[in-house]
Amino acid sequence: MAKVAHFMDFEFETGNTTLFPRFETEVLVEKAVSIISKEIPEGERCEILDIGTGCGNIAISLTNYIPSSRIVALDISEMALSVAKKNAVRYGMEQRIEFVKSDLFENLWQRSELSFDLVISNPPYISLADFTSLPEAVKEDPYVALYGGRDGMDFYRRIVNEAHFFMKRGAVLLTEVGYDQASCVKAMLETSGVFGDAEIYKDYSGIDRIVKGRKNG
Ligand SMILES: C[S@@+](CC[C@H](N)C(=O)[O-])C[C@H]1O[C@@H](n2cnc3c(N)ncnc32)[C@H](O)[C@@H]1O
Repeated sequence: MAKVAHFMDFEFETGNTTLFPRFETEVLVEKAVSIISKEIPEGERCEILDIGTGCGNIAISLTNYIPSSRIVALDISEMALSVAKKNAVRYGMEQRIEFVKSDLFENLWQRSELSFDLVISNPPYISLADFTSLPEAVKEDPYVALYGGRDGMDFYRRIVNEAHFFMKRGAVLLTEVGYDQASCVKAMLETSGVFGDAEIYKDYSGIDRIVKGRKNG
């Protein structure tokens, strides 16, 4: 059954095949817009990769707030991608977002032209221990959108290890994290040898929610 989520200035159809967008994810979008508007001169093309696009809420919002952006939005779920495409069409954004079915970077390796200014992701990050105690309402979201491996960190490991191959020098990586994961993801970036300038930002409830890193120049 189609469900509708209000996110930023939009309404997104979600259905049962995509995560119902969360209010705290708006902070991720706001942070991205604020960083890009300071760093990319107005009118200059801004290439963005959205990993785990779900219903397309992050990609579509960024397309709206960053007029010079071109976005590749990927997801492993064909059903999520079809919902995201429908949402993009609704807002006339489908020409500026390329939707790609891929297990993280798997189907991007052959695309040597890809080089992003911003890689953004709200990946699945619930650990096994937290998953068992999730409220029933949260368990209505698809498992593939929630479960982040035994310690919840699987996607951060893969993103930190591989994203830099697809990023310009000085490009920014922004990820949403679970309530207790920010310092661990920040440490991953700091010890990666390829990212610096790591910072943590809070959500509106005062919880550490966003981690930023920058590909070394
Ligand atoms: C937490 S949801 C985020 C959805 C949306 N971006 C948001 O912020 O509301 C994570 C998304 O990652 C996708 N996903 C899970 N495993 C993936 C993988 N291996 N590669 C790509 N996407 C994946 C899920 O299908 C889901 O849409």
